[in-house]
Amino acid sequence: KYERQYFMPPKFEYDWVKKDYVDAPPIWCSVDLRDGNQALIEPMSLDEKLEFFQLLVDVGFKEIEVGFPAASETEYQFMRTLIEKDMIPDDVTVQVLTQAREHIIKRTFEAVQGAPHAVIHVYNSTSVAQREQVFKKDKEQVKQIAIDGAKLLKQLADQTEGNFTFEYSPESFSGTEVDYAVDVCNAVLDVWQPTKDKKVIINIPTTVENAMPHVFAGQVEYVDKNLKYRDGVVLSLHPHNDRGCGVATAEMGILAGADRIEGTLFGNGERTGNVDIVTLALNMFSQGVDPGLDFTDIPKIREIYERLTRMHVYERQPYAGDLVFTAFSGSHQDAIAKGMAWREAEERDHWTVPYLPIDPKDIGRTYDKDVIRINSQSGKGGVSYILKQNFGISVPKEMREEVGYMVKDVSDKAHKELTPDWVYHIFEDHYVNY
Ligand code: KIV
Ligand code: ZN
Repeated sequence: KYERQYFMPPKFEYDWVKKDYVDAPPIWCSVDLRDGNQALIEPMSLDEKLEFFQLLVDVGFKEIEVGFPAASETEYQFMRTLIEKDMIPDDVTVQVLTQAREHIIKRTFEAVQGAPHAVIHVYNSTSVAQREQVFKKDKEQVKQIAIDGAKLLKQLADQTEGNFTFEYSPESFSGTEVDYAVDVCNAVLDVWQPTKDKKVIINIPTTVENAMPHVFAGQVEYVDKNLKYRDGVVLSLHPHNDRGCGVATAEMGILAGADRIEGTLFGNGERTGNVDIVTLALNMFSQGVDPGLDFTDIPKIREIYERLTRMHVYERQPYAGDLVFTAFSGSHQDAIAKGMAWREAEERDHWTVPYLPIDPKDIGRTYDKDVIRINSQSGKGGVSYILKQNFGISVPKEMREEVGYMVKDVSDKAHKELTPDWVYHIFEDHYVNY
């Protein structure tokens, strides 16, 4: 049945340090306004992009890819507006994407004229498939595209007012022979001649994610060890999520030597998306590492994101989804209630509550709405918790089972979740108005 052969990534022996977790944040770069935006059914308007940009600044991103100025008038005008209205904070670097083609690079430099500090991100596709099918060029010819692009960037940066850093991506790296991709990157580096005081960015994209995370990490290790001018290079990763492993890929890639991650809020982006920076950052937070990004008000960030992108954050999206801290089932509710009580009694600083990976309050979520909710699966602990928290009613221990069964029976028959008010009315009908 399944006879087709798909691309198999090359093998590498990797010996990167196997740490248990990422112990320091990478440099974060948001590509929401470019990769995220280009994958939307309705791309954002200029005003929407401005509001999203402000959100990214407020979250604490210091590097933001704001668009592909040569792609459309909105993209071009967005870049001009940021510069002309002086909207880029001093500690934020904006980044723009361009293909390694002369007229596109030229138009890009027109867009960034006068930028206080901008990264010019140039790419060309290097994969076997694109070389053979799209460009019909051999390896040397494709390498030459990258070299010519790198030269033109250098020349135009010298002639354009502003302060520029260069970035190169061998696009479709994940479908490219790794040694060849490194060879192309090194040829670009030979043009740019970076030093530790004048760094450039080499960005490794899993344009289409097709390898297991540990295999990709092996590739990152190879790149890390074989790039020339390594002291002058920021090694960046740009994971996509086609196999659903974007977060694992990024985490293992950092352990394997990467310095920087490009991704988006909630994993928006082409196809299955870019790596989700919210999850990556909060994974670090859950392991005691300050990610350097402020996600203390996830509901607000999510509201702005959903409104501007017209996308929906999935109910089970890590940290941000409606149901990710929710316990409906009796045994989970009971364990959470006991864990909370134990923690208070023992005065523990560190988080120990069963079933909750972090304290939802740390990211702006609430216990009432997000944690204990009542349906036919719930138990006595959850029902008593709702009555106590919302209405100050302490159900005596001896009555809890009876009250619990009575309430969940109503939910079972109605086949509905019960709001706290509904739980109260059931209680009231039975014990107060009886
Ligand atoms: O996914 C990709 O390869 C890209 C490049 C342009 C970096 O978005
Ligand atoms: Zn991408």
